[in-house]
Amino acid sequence: MTKSNDQTILQIEPVGPFYANVLAEIHQAGFDDAWGEAVIAKLLQTKGTTGLLARLADDAVGMALFWQTGDEAEILTLAVLPQARRQKVAQALIEHAVNILTSSGGTRLILEVATDNRAARGLYAKLGFKSVGRRPGYYKREAMPSLAGQRIDGEILALDLADGSAK
Ligand SMILES: CC(C)(COP(=O)(O)OP(=O)(O)OC[C@H]1O[C@@H](n2cnc3c(N)ncnc32)[C@H](O)[C@@H]1OP(=O)(O)O)[C@@H](O)C(=O)NCCC(=O)NCCS
Repeated sequence: MTKSNDQTILQIEPVGPFYANVLAEIHQAGFDDAWGEAVIAKLLQTKGTTGLLARLADDAVGMALFWQTGDEAEILTLAVLPQARRQKVAQALIEHAVNILTSSGGTRLILEVATDNRAARGLYAKLGFKSVGRRPGYYKREAMPSLAGQRIDGEILALDLADGSAK
């Protein structure tokens, strides 16, 4: 348990497939191409995958999915409801994931982020993630008519868990 900026109680807990609908609702508020409850439920049943739910004053506001194989781990997705942003919820979710991963032998955490995602890039930079690769044109923007069809690069970021970052 931790406290966010305004001292509201912030709780992070691992959750199983029973919570897929809750995670899916939060995911939907964060992405134009949200994954849906069935996809999230299936991921939560996949060996090595962990789901985290964040609650602010008991309201479900944030989610993360990550998986681990051996000493390598990946954040599959991460989202916080718009009304709960900038209260360190995402930061707490990643810190919680890092704690779980380091205690089970993880040494490197990777993820992919769209290069136009300013908030996420700011978050990962703050937590010590470094760029290790790029996927040109990986994301296609469809939601806004002005961006229809536009391609955005994906950037692969990595965090060395052995050096104590993100804690
Ligand atoms: C990205 C996202 C998860 C951040 O969640 P959040 O709970 O608001 O982030 P936090 O409050 O934990 O922010 C921690 C740090 O990240 C950075 N950050 C967060 N939002 C930012 C923004 N809009 N602009 C710039 N930096 C930002 C800041 O350094 C911030 O620290 P500070 O508040 O002390 O300045 C959230 O904006 C979101 O759900 N976006 C839609 C889904 C998404 O893009 N997911 C990531 C896909 S890779």
